[in-house]
Formats: sequence, C-alpha cells, structure tokens
Amino acid sequence: MQFRGWLGMSSLIVASAVYGAGDPEAGQAQSLTCAACHGEDGATGIDPTYPNLAGQNERYLFRQLQLIQSNERNILLMTGQLLGKSEQDLADLAAYYASLPGKVSQASGDDQAITKAQGIYRGGILAKGVAACTACHSPVGGGNAPAGFPSLSGQSAAYTVAQLTDYREGRRATDEEYGGVMRDVAERLTDGEIAGLADYLQGLH
Ligand code: HEC
Ligand code: HEC
Repeated sequence: MQFRGWLGMSSLIVASAVYGAGDPEAGQAQSLTCAACHGEDGATGIDPTYPNLAGQNERYLFRQLQLIQSNERNILLMTGQLLGKSEQDLADLAAYYASLPGKVSQASGDDQAITKAQGIYRGGILAKGVAACTACHSPVGGGNAPAGFPSLSGQSAAYTVAQLTDYREGRRATDEEYGGVMRDVAERLTDGEIAGLADYLQGLH
C-alpha cells in the first residue's frame, strides 16, 4: 500500500513541471469575498476551523481550488464562491495566497505532549506503519512546493484535526492523485494522536 503510493507519486512530481503560474495581483483583485472568511491577511480566519491560506504553496492551492469548484472536495461554506471562475482565475487566487507571508502561532500542549507529537512527526509510528510526516511535509512543516505537498506550518489546529479525521473516515479523498497517502496515514491515528499532531503543527516552523 505504502509502496504503491510512493511509486504513483514519483511520476506525478515529474508531470507537475508543466503547470503554469498565476498572477498574484489578479488574484488579489478577486480576494475580497475570500477575506470575509479567511481574513485580510489570509491567515486569520474568522473561525478556528477555517484554514490559513497565507504562504501555502501555489500548486497545492490551485489543485484544491479545482477540487472545491468541482465539488470533489465538498465544502458547504464555499458553495458558490468559485462559481464561474476560470482556471486562470483559480491559478491567480492560488498565486496570491501563496505570495502572502505565512503565520505561525504556538503549540499549547505541555512538553510531554509536544515531544510525543514531534516523535510521530519526525519518525512516524513504526509499530502501526505510520509514515513520518517529515518525508513529505519537511522537517519544519513547509511542505514540498514543486510536488504540491501542503505546508502544515502554523496551520490552525482545529482545521488540522478536522482534515485528519476526514481523511481517516474517508470523507476527504482528495489524495486520490497521490495514491491515497493521507487516508493511509490517518487511518492508523487515534483521536489523541491527531489532536497532539495538530497542536504541534500550529507552532512548527
Ligand atoms: C463563507 C466562508 C468562506 C468563504 C467566503 C471562502 N472560504 Fe475557503 N474555506 C472555508 C472553509 C470553512 C474551509 C475549510 C473547510 C473544511 O473543513 O474542509 C475552506 C477551505 C479553503 C481552501 C482549502 C485550504 C487547504 O489547506 O486545503 C482553499 C484553498 C480556500 N478555502 C480558498 C478560498 C478562496 C480563494 C475563497 C474566495 C474565492 C474562499 N476560500 C472563500 C470557508 C470559506
Ligand atoms: C508520502 C507523503 C506524505 C506523508 C508521509 C504525509 N503526508 Fe500529509 N499530505 C500529503 C499530500 C500529498 C497531501 C495533499 C493531499 C490532498 O490533496 O488531499 C497531504 C495533506 C495533508 C494535510 C491536509 C492539509 C490541508 O491544508 O488541508 C494534513 C493535515 C497532513 N497532510 C498531515 C500529515 C501528517 C500529520 C503526517 C504524518 C503523520 C502526514 N501528513 C504524512 C503527503 C504526505
């Protein structure tokens, strides 16, 4: 399972090189409605379950916007937000949010909880076959921009908990293109491990 994911991914990374870049200024011009929920700076959502977008990589953002627009990723609150937008509009929005400086807050857990989460982040959980997050999301949480692996650094903990739970329960399947890697990872995590990781990521940079 793990291997199939990896093999599928290496060909995708090569294929991604053709993707053209958006225009951040044209993206900014469209971002007024987005700011109502994701904040003026793209990093201060009006609700902790709303993701930070600022500094997220362009390729990941563009792909998610396509998936949200086509409803393959179902986000009720964003219904209608991307209606009528062209592929170029989505690329421009992705470029705009990628150009904004990311924000990091702090983990709120005690030292023991943070050390445990850090252990999973850096080393995975061997006994359960959970892959180390660093391999794809980088040691400082910055992700892998050319491959479109998302940055997790400073992401709102409540949002991360919701995503990992959604992957685990199969409600989010946007990782299909990457061999189902996140469902495979999350399916082995307990609620406690997810909460610990999410808190740790909020402060990781
Ligand atoms: C009414 C509130 C609202 C508005 C307006 C809104 N969003 Fe969202 N957006 C959300 C919520 C809530 C989520 C996360 C839902 C979930 O839990 O999956 C989200 C998720 C996203 C994601 C996925 C982020 C990730 O890390 O995977 C992107 C990208 C995004 N929004 C971009 C935009 C853009 C661009 C606009 C404007 C065109 C916009 N949103 C307008 C509420 C909103
Ligand atoms: C083999 C590569 C790989 C590994 C290992 C991996 N991830 Fe991911 N992760 C991805 C990819 C690719 C995506 C985007 C998938 C998608 O589009 O849904 C992703 C998405 C995510 C997201 C959603 C981000 C967002 O903005 O919505 C979270 C949270 C996440 N990973 C956390 C983790 C954690 C925690 C670990 C370790 C326990 C981990 N990942 C291990 C590749 C990986």
